[in-house]
Amino acid sequence: MTGVLVTGGTGKTGSALAGLLRGNGVPVRVASRRPSADVPDAVRFDWDDTATHPAVLRGVDRIFLVPPVNTVDPMPLVGPFLAEAQRLGVRRVVLLGSASVLPNAPSALEMAAQVRSRPGWVVLRASGFMQNFLSPHPVGERILGHGEVRTASGEGAVGWIDARDIAAAACALLTDPDSTPSGRRDYLLTGPKALSYREVAAVITARTGRSVRVVTIGADEQAAHYRAAGMPAEFAAAIAAVEDSIRAGREDQVSTAVLDLTGRAPRTFTAFVQEHATAWADHGRLGH
Ligand SMILES: NC(=O)c1ccc[n+]([C@@H]2O[C@H](COP(=O)([O-])OP(=O)(O)OC[C@H]3O[C@@H](n4cnc5c(N)ncnc54)[C@H](OP(=O)(O)O)[C@@H]3O)[C@@H](O)[C@H]2O)c1
Repeated sequence: MTGVLVTGGTGKTGSALAGLLRGNGVPVRVASRRPSADVPDAVRFDWDDTATHPAVLRGVDRIFLVPPVNTVDPMPLVGPFLAEAQRLGVRRVVLLGSASVLPNAPSALEMAAQVRSRPGWVVLRASGFMQNFLSPHPVGERILGHGEVRTASGEGAVGWIDARDIAAAACALLTDPDSTPSGRRDYLLTGPKALSYREVAAVITARTGRSVRVVTIGADEQAAHYRAAGMPAEFAAAIAAVEDSIRAGREDQVSTAVLDLTGRAPRTFTAFVQEHATAWADHGRLGH
């Protein structure tokens, strides 16, 4: 099979990407720990089960790479996977990375550097997802259950992006694997405008009628909240600490990469909220 292996293929970004690739006539192999019989070319893949790795790589020439989730140390699993992909002559890897640099996580930087070092392989540094404000993300769950966002990020802003715009950017790079516009190997992907949590809460409140307040907490308390939501302790601490960097203004950035790669401007946060308004409003009416 010449086509694209979509890891994380059942997730927010991967499932949107698989749909876009199919729409462009590109053969897709959808990787999942529990491949669905209803999905054509679904294949079993589990980062934690290395016996599943060789078969998913066989025959594909492009990969959308969603690294192991909820870990600060992806390289022990991703390193050998990438080495095998290179050995097999995979022409393009598009890594779904993050605009945030996790503290005490050199392995994630090493992973991105390894991808960037190979001709035709590309790193996407994605800003915070707009979908974080929906279930099942812990931030979305808190809004649904308590009508609040708890954050240590103060008035710091983030260039929130819709995961579907990341998928569209990845689709452009994976559909034509021999061209990398301007030879770039690294793209910061953001939405059109950076917003603080307070501004986000105001948009949700105004557009859905569901009142959302912002409660200021410390990074330690945030880490405890993420642990309670099921994240491993080290990872929970790292992503809670990112809020310090948001507060310091380091995530207050927007880029033109989505427009440059896809020819379409990224979705605005207001449009995203409008589209999903019932997800918040209905829950509120039920009195949760
Ligand atoms: N949320 C943000 O603000 C943000 C910002 C920047 C970057 N990111 C990055 O985005 C990535 C997540 O993307 P997403 O939100 O599109 O995904 P998602 O909706 O959270 O879904 C997770 C995907 O990962 C797969 N997965 C989970 N555990 C796996 C394992 N052990 N082996 C193989 N696959 C596994 C799941 O597939 P199955 O369950 O079917 O196996 C699913 O397709 C993460 O790497 C995160 O660092 C997120």
